[in-house]
Amino acid sequence: PDAAAIDQARELAGSAGTIEELREILSTFEGCNLKRTAKSLVFADGNPEARVMLVGEAPGRDEDLQGLPFVGRSGQLLDRMLAAIGLDRTGVYISNVLPWRPPGNRTPTPQETEICRPFIERHVELAKPEFLVLLGGSSAKTMLKTSDGIMKLRGRWNSVTTQQITVPALPTLHPAYLLRQPAHKALAWRDLLNLKQRLG
Ligand code: URA
Repeated sequence: PDAAAIDQARELAGSAGTIEELREILSTFEGCNLKRTAKSLVFADGNPEARVMLVGEAPGRDEDLQGLPFVGRSGQLLDRMLAAIGLDRTGVYISNVLPWRPPGNRTPTPQETEICRPFIERHVELAKPEFLVLLGGSSAKTMLKTSDGIMKLRGRWNSVTTQQITVPALPTLHPAYLLRQPAHKALAWRDLLNLKQRLG
């Protein structure tokens, strides 16, 4: 009953009036099978008042153990990337499209993604960031509702439109990808400078 789960997710997400309420609602939501294998709800980290919100794909092992996004190896690289433009977790807000780790870090199914979409979209509406940064192809495709690949999308401002708001969004390369392809750090660096300039 994926369609029923999506409807229920939309209704529940829409009923959240604050970020804390959204976290509460997600913690009791039983409509996504990923919750059954995950240890933690990985909701967010950083400053919900920040001008910039980063959206990744899904928690990995370390994130699932700690209940926080981007705390493993790719998170450490993300912290260094942010530091390179003078930001840290007090100056950004961080979440993921999926709040539960897919077992063994498998690729989430389209159904799982669509069941979780209302929650991340509501999360963006409640945080009201000035800018979104979409980390990696999976996040960019989901949030922008496009099938374009990350190499085409990255470095160009786009926009994420939810039921209530439209937010400028910059897709960039995922830190986990950069760990495997360090030569592409130069591209991510360009994107970071782009963001920095936009922040003024
Ligand atoms: N990769 C992601 O996309 N998100 C995390 O939180 C950790 C790794």
